[in-house]
Amino acid sequence: EAGAAAPGEAAGEAAAGAADLDVSALVKFTRPLPALPVLSPRRRTARAETYELRQRETECEIVPGLKTRVRTFDGCFAPPVIKAVRGRRTVIRQVNELTVPTSVHLHGGHVPESSDGGPMDLVQPGASRTYTYPNEQAHANLWFHDHAHHQESETVFRGLTGLYLLTDETEQRLPLPSGAYDVPIAIRDIRLDEAGQIVYAMNDGKDRNLMLANGVAYPYLAVAARKYRFRIVNTSNLRTLDLRLSDGSSYVQIGSDGGLLAKPFTTASLTLSSGERADIVVDFARYAAGTRLVLKNAVASPPGPEDQIGDLLEFRVGERAEDRSRIPDTLRSLPPLPAPDRTREIELLMGADGIGLIDGKAYEEGRVDAEIPFGSTELWSIRNANDRGSHNFHVHLVQFRVVERNGQPVTAGPESGLKDTVRLAPGETVKVQATFGGYRGDFVYHCHMIDHAAMGMMATMRVG
Ligand code: C2O
Ligand code: CU
Ligand code: CU
Repeated sequence: EAGAAAPGEAAGEAAAGAADLDVSALVKFTRPLPALPVLSPRRRTARAETYELRQRETECEIVPGLKTRVRTFDGCFAPPVIKAVRGRRTVIRQVNELTVPTSVHLHGGHVPESSDGGPMDLVQPGASRTYTYPNEQAHANLWFHDHAHHQESETVFRGLTGLYLLTDETEQRLPLPSGAYDVPIAIRDIRLDEAGQIVYAMNDGKDRNLMLANGVAYPYLAVAARKYRFRIVNTSNLRTLDLRLSDGSSYVQIGSDGGLLAKPFTTASLTLSSGERADIVVDFARYAAGTRLVLKNAVASPPGPEDQIGDLLEFRVGERAEDRSRIPDTLRSLPPLPAPDRTREIELLMGADGIGLIDGKAYEEGRVDAEIPFGSTELWSIRNANDRGSHNFHVHLVQFRVVERNGQPVTAGPESGLKDTVRLAPGETVKVQATFGGYRGDFVYHCHMIDHAAMGMMATMRVG
């Protein structure tokens, strides 16, 4: 087993001045897309499943022939998956075997403050912590990642991420593609040096020029000529994805951050900022056996050479397979939108000095920026005050609804379901509404371009 390197030691740290890996020299689509490993509980009862995860360094082969030192949950750089069922608790003992403090946050989870993994709720190297997730919320594709303030950006970039797929009867009743035809895909960018080591610098998004799917560069996936469900998570620190098929054809989006949409939505592109998720169904039955098509990222954001960051994953279409799956016209009913008790305005700004601000203030531990009465419903108008540079917005504890984008009501499409993260292009304003119930306590809201949160673009709400 690989031991943990001491901070500043050569192993796993890019040597100062080492050249970047020449990603244009990589041969694409030579390795299959790895299936994300599904973790098994140590104990299972009718009411709870118990896990133990060790946060540790290891090496993995992101590009063929090079060993990259990474930070992982249980040795898995491609995010490992925890499957959970509504109504049965998940209890995870997290053991920190890294050399930095961590805090594990369940992104999109409705959990009490004590298990939320807030930025100051640190678990020191050598210590452990048990997080309990009640799983009382509806089905959703959640994920978990480090949140230790100032360290999270680097630790997440080096790999400390996992998926948390919570299901319920509403989802299971639907005749959607399942089993081998339901494939989670975690997409992110990275920057490697010529020795294969991760090059990390805060907010250097435009230099992160290699795209990974399930932890490897340029994989392929052999698919049968039938429908597949792909659960896509953007685990990039900064990069917004715009996913398209190379033949420009459409697919069906059926879900977003907080589970299924009310109605499916046909589209040829999918925009996902850091931390956002989407469920899509692609029907490969329309292609002849032997067809190859590529899932591409169409937007270089931040800009980079398109041929390097454009290609993500190649689909290799094989023979037809039986397909009894179907996308119903109605997927679920969303909770009603009560009239808000109050409204709030929130402004995100990256200052010229590289300090991230919410309403003019950088994050400070213990300062409460928003007092929210328990059980109340609020409408937040969130504005990206930068005229260049994107942000997004994420709030802990709740799933919200995007009710307006730039003055236009959002009633259908990719943002019409339950959300916990919403993108904000330069100058944009979105209005989101949530009901703050369930648990009292202090929770953060922040830009989920995670380097920006580390730079201060985060604030605290007190629900009480
Ligand atoms: Cu995914 Cu507060 O974060
Ligand atoms: Cu979160
Ligand atoms: Cu931001």
